[in-house]
Amino acid sequence: MRRRPRRNRSSVAIRSMLEETQLSSKNLIYPMFIEDGKSIQTEINSLPNNYRWSLDKILPEIENCIHLGIDKYVLFPAVDESLKDTVASYSYVSDNFYLDAIRKIKENFPQISLMSDVAMDPYSSDGHDGLVQNGEILNDETLPILAKMSVAQAQAGIDIVGPSDMMDGRIGYLRDALDKAGFSHTAIMAYTAKYASAFYGPFRDALDSAPKGGDKKSYQMNPSNKREALIEAELDFGEGADMLMVKPATCYLDIIHLLKENFDIPITAYNVSGECAMIYAASEKGWLDYDSSMSEMLMSIRRAGADGILTYFAKDFAKLVNG
Ligand code: PBG
Repeated sequence: MRRRPRRNRSSVAIRSMLEETQLSSKNLIYPMFIEDGKSIQTEINSLPNNYRWSLDKILPEIENCIHLGIDKYVLFPAVDESLKDTVASYSYVSDNFYLDAIRKIKENFPQISLMSDVAMDPYSSDGHDGLVQNGEILNDETLPILAKMSVAQAQAGIDIVGPSDMMDGRIGYLRDALDKAGFSHTAIMAYTAKYASAFYGPFRDALDSAPKGGDKKSYQMNPSNKREALIEAELDFGEGADMLMVKPATCYLDIIHLLKENFDIPITAYNVSGECAMIYAASEKGWLDYDSSMSEMLMSIRRAGADGILTYFAKDFAKLVNG
């Protein structure tokens, strides 16, 4: 045997030189859930170690995470059922608790990059990402609502808006609305290839945002489709997205790779709640080692081509490598 690949794996010193992929806490974006009120830190049953926080409790937690090396966050609102309606009107009430939290978090930590969620589902009595009429999800009629939500978030100081709704044409529509309102510096991370996935379960538990009727298959992508992701990416790129996201991440590594090869803007991936829950559950049972399995999962997403990864493991990974 003339070629023996094991020679290049023979010591820590050699292995560390030959590492093809680097992963650090700088690649991670930490999703956090916020609700209205005081002194709230409620653990999410199906997503252990993750909480719904009130503003007074989330501020010190973000400060902890900043010390661990996390400087990017995405914030999701858990809205009281009584404030939900069919048109998600609470989403752009200028003093709602979510916009208030954005203002306060950015005031306290101007150095972080804060990303929002733009979609109707947390605020919608139907639990869908768009307007519902006779069981149908309306596309064009949803866009002005998403635009009001985005502009309100930009006014509150958000750095990146994150449309997660999968309506057609929303990236261009939001770009125009943001520019017109004077927010040409506010970035858009498009949920470009977002699949109708079973792995969003714990997230919907966290926000109590599951659809009240039907499913999301008429707007989120079919898990069987790969080439269709290129169409979504061409549209979002052409409409002005600053970054393209693939969601979920681990069952869709081929899609991350495909977009990375074909588009010259940053590619991100959302390591969603169900993917993280699998590792939490298996390691609770003692079936997997938590630190090494979550690190391997994140590394695989990075290796597939993700520049940034939204992940509930962000804090634990940062603790592991920086703490
Ligand atoms: C909805 C939204 C979802 C997630 C982020 N934004 C769920 C859905 O589409 O029903 C899921 C994230 C996760 O599972 O971690 N706009």
